[in-house]
Amino acid sequence: MIGRLNHVAIAVPDMKAAAAMYRDVLGAQVSAPLDVPEHGVTTVFVTLPNTKIELLHPLGANSPIAGFLAKNSSGGIHHVCYEVTDIKAARDRLVEAGARVLGDIKTGAHGKPVLFLHPRDFCGTLVELEEA
Ligand code: CO
Repeated sequence: MIGRLNHVAIAVPDMKAAAAMYRDVLGAQVSAPLDVPEHGVTTVFVTLPNTKIELLHPLGANSPIAGFLAKNSSGGIHHVCYEVTDIKAARDRLVEAGARVLGDIKTGAHGKPVLFLHPRDFCGTLVELEEA
């Protein structure tokens, strides 16, 4: 059911420093910061030949990644995103299998439908599915 790895998301305490590190030290192609208020994050995309890295920094008071950074002060891997061709079919299959789906299908940072799955059901990793 899952297809390509769309991105790995890394929560960062200092977006400027993180973007500069990926651009200047690792020599990657790095986007300008993009505020996504509906998800409570500022994102920077690092484009690699085979996938992307999504740098995440909290935006606003109720950011879903503020708690993660409070526990992981130097940042850390926040989620992985796999592509699916039909997100509603994927959700139905996962619910039937007993997996915990977090909330409803939403529009993600790339303007495509996304869904999050509970880390306890997936080896301790928060999983995002994106219809692509
Ligand atoms: Co993501």
